[in-house]
Amino acid sequence: MAFPLFSLLLLFSLSLQQPLSSSANLHRTTLFRTELISEPKPLINTPPTTYFEVTKPIEVPKTKPCSYHILQHYFGYTYEKPPVLANYTPPSNCGSQNFGKIVFEWKATCKGRQFDRIFGVWLGGVEILRSCTAEPRATGIVWTVQKDITRYYSLLMTHQTLAVYLGNLIDNTYTGVYHVNITIYFYPVEEHGSHYKPNLGNLDSGYGSGADLILPISRNLPLNDGLWFKILNSTDTESKEFKIPQNAYRAVLEVYVSFHENDEFWYGNYPNEYIAANNLTGVLGNGPFREVVVSLDGRVVGAVWPFTVIYTGGINPLLWRPITGIGSFDLPSYDIEITPLLGTMLDGKTHKIGLSVANALNVWYIDANLHIWLDRKSDKTEGQLLSQSMLPLVVSLVSNFTGLDGKFVTSVSRTLSSTGWVKSSHGKITTKSTQEFNYSNFMVMENDGNLQIINQVIDYNDSVYATTPSSSVRSIKSYKRFSFYMHSDDVDQGNETYSSLINLTLGFNEKKIGASDDGLSVSSLKNLQNGQGYMLVKGNLVVSGLGSTQQTYRYNGDKFCYFRNVSSSNYTILYDKMSNTCAKRKWSHSGFGLGKWWFFPTRRPFLAPVFHGNKGGI
Ligand SMILES: *[C@@H]1O[C@H](CO)[C@@H](O)[C@H](O)[C@H]1NC(C)=O
Ligand SMILES: *[C@@H]1O[C@H](CO)[C@@H](O)[C@H](O)[C@H]1NC(C)=O
Ligand SMILES: *[C@@H]1O[C@H](CO)[C@@H](O)[C@H](O)[C@H]1NC(C)=O
Ligand SMILES: *[C@@H]1O[C@H](CO)[C@@H](O)[C@H](O)[C@H]1NC(C)=O
Ligand SMILES: *[C@@H]1O[C@H](CO)[C@@H](O)[C@H](O)[C@H]1NC(C)=O
Ligand SMILES: *[C@@H]1O[C@H](CO)[C@@H](O)[C@H](O)[C@H]1NC(C)=O
Ligand SMILES: *[C@@H]1O[C@H](CO)[C@@H](O)[C@H](O)[C@H]1NC(C)=O
Ligand SMILES: *[C@@H]1O[C@H](CO)[C@@H](O)[C@H](O)[C@H]1NC(C)=O
Ligand SMILES: *[C@@H]1O[C@H](CO)[C@@H](O)[C@H](O)[C@H]1NC(C)=O
Ligand SMILES: *[C@@H]1O[C@H](CO)[C@@H](O)[C@H](O)[C@H]1NC(C)=O
Repeated sequence: MAFPLFSLLLLFSLSLQQPLSSSANLHRTTLFRTELISEPKPLINTPPTTYFEVTKPIEVPKTKPCSYHILQHYFGYTYEKPPVLANYTPPSNCGSQNFGKIVFEWKATCKGRQFDRIFGVWLGGVEILRSCTAEPRATGIVWTVQKDITRYYSLLMTHQTLAVYLGNLIDNTYTGVYHVNITIYFYPVEEHGSHYKPNLGNLDSGYGSGADLILPISRNLPLNDGLWFKILNSTDTESKEFKIPQNAYRAVLEVYVSFHENDEFWYGNYPNEYIAANNLTGVLGNGPFREVVVSLDGRVVGAVWPFTVIYTGGINPLLWRPITGIGSFDLPSYDIEITPLLGTMLDGKTHKIGLSVANALNVWYIDANLHIWLDRKSDKTEGQLLSQSMLPLVVSLVSNFTGLDGKFVTSVSRTLSSTGWVKSSHGKITTKSTQEFNYSNFMVMENDGNLQIINQVIDYNDSVYATTPSSSVRSIKSYKRFSFYMHSDDVDQGNETYSSLINLTLGFNEKKIGASDDGLSVSSLKNLQNGQGYMLVKGNLVVSGLGSTQQTYRYNGDKFCYFRNVSSSNYTILYDKMSNTCAKRKWSHSGFGLGKWWFFPTRRPFLAPVFHGNKGGI
């Protein structure tokens, strides 16, 4: 979350400055940010609690991995101190030097009292993990985050500096020091693996094997902070200049995003007209819609409508113990295929990527990685942008309110698309990259604004089609649905105390379809969390409360499936069921049980003709 010092002060100053204003009724001025001081009295000798995010295991080759313990560090008072650095050397003694999988592992313990802290891990300035710490208990906690970092293969084969920024604060009250080990596991390819590809069937990285070059679109060291850019408001654009080799034939921009302080709960921020009509001060505005906009040399090239990650102290901290919120331990990054624009960057000159956030309030942490594929058989490729369709946002706000109560419907949609060709030793390939977004947010305020209901859905379709004049080379389609529902009822109990009742649903669904010379690859994920929480809050301290969470996670892939159904209440796991059986795949409209949205194409995406790239094909 990053609840750095100054926002803490802001919180106190808000409540000091305006005890009599009409916003005093709105407990939402507390930013859904509370701090836990009391919890069930721990028994003596209680072992540390293991916190976890529900996710599928990483598929690894059946080979013995080499492990590389690259960092051990105690993150005590690290706020606004330089990131912790370590020298990274590629493994040299690991049997085969071809790795089928590379897995990053963060293992941490903490004990005492502490806020959740956002952190980032960079290798050579390229971000490889954005995450949030778990909030400790007096008896201690432990948690592990594992991430498949095979897509950063080329970077991992060269000497680099590893940088970790975790801005923690220690004083007499906040005693939690984060003890951290970082280990990287290298899995050699299986011997019979003649079809060696670093990113086996991994659509996360787009298609085919990893990029030959990954350029950081982040801030340079030295810094007393993370390498991310900080976007402070809606007119703030942060940018970075870069140059690419003149023999590139493909480019993907991977964007990392997290939102904090006044925009930590952007999806619940009030429309400005509601704030103005009620003369509210000190409440969070600009409405509930945000869009991260990416530009190249001043021209919009793509966008990210982010998933509503809730950090481990967010909304009701008791909900996230020990099952943490979707994405909170491994925030999603978002890929934008910018190959159609490569032609504008192949001149050997400096170019500039810009990052901004529509409607932003202080503060967004954003950076990006530019993944570049190079033509081994030529020194120069050429390309041309053929067309671009970057229609402006279509935003509609329908509101009906009287005083502090009312209803607001915010709907936004946008389609961004670019087409361009690149001529390399692979031929003249035309790529069309399209992003389609649809957003709706229903917000209801009742009881003088103390009851808030939010129902938000983001639909996010991406597609990339690559063709030669005579044939199709590949296609990738991804359909995402991010859903957020919350019923939040605050009741004033007098004496600066209020009770809070929360019901929450968080959903992350994605379906991916890829077709190339490797064949057809289809995967789907349905990840759903429900939570119910109660708490009594005095000032911003949780005096008592209870949180319960139920989660179902279903992944169906080409090679394996994973299902988990787990629930916790009051720090205890109630049930936890796992299975590897695949749900029956129904090639029909109604198949995926989530209504019409989970359609499958009735027509199979085209299968590409055989196409031999220089590094296992593109
Ligand atoms: C939560 O569990 C503790 C024991 O660990 C118990 O003392 C407490 O009453 C429980 N709270 C609720 C609300 O059930
Ligand atoms: C980190 O690794 C060291 C050495 O293996 C070990 O003593 C320590 O307990 C580990 N700490 C965590 C948090 O895993
Ligand atoms: C927005 O942020 C930029 C960058 O920090 C700053 O220069 C500018 O004054 C801010 N604009 C507003 C309206 O606050
Ligand atoms: C807001 O302030 C204006 C001007 O001071 C006043 O006319 C209006 O009644 C106020 N509205 C509310 C809801 O307090
Ligand atoms: C606005 O809300 C009021 C009170 O709920 C309702 O009576 C009225 O019909 C609504 N108006 C519109 C245009 O929806
Ligand atoms: C995403 O694609 C599906 C299937 O083509 C379509 O029904 C849906 O409207 C698309 N969503 C957006 C936001 O365009
Ligand atoms: C966008 O969402 C609205 C309602 O939320 C729906 O009516 C509309 O059909 C959607 N559009 C697309 C293209 O999916
Ligand atoms: C209000 O809070 C104060 C300070 O926490 C406490 O001393 C007092 O007893 C409380 N009053 C009531 C009526 O709860
Ligand atoms: C909240 O969840 C609880 C437990 O599932 C349920 O009893 C209650 O009706 C829900 N309340 C709302 C407003 O959805
Ligand atoms: C998860 O387990 C609970 C408790 O056994 C059960 O009620 C629920 O139906 C299960 N959900 C799914 C999707 O299997």
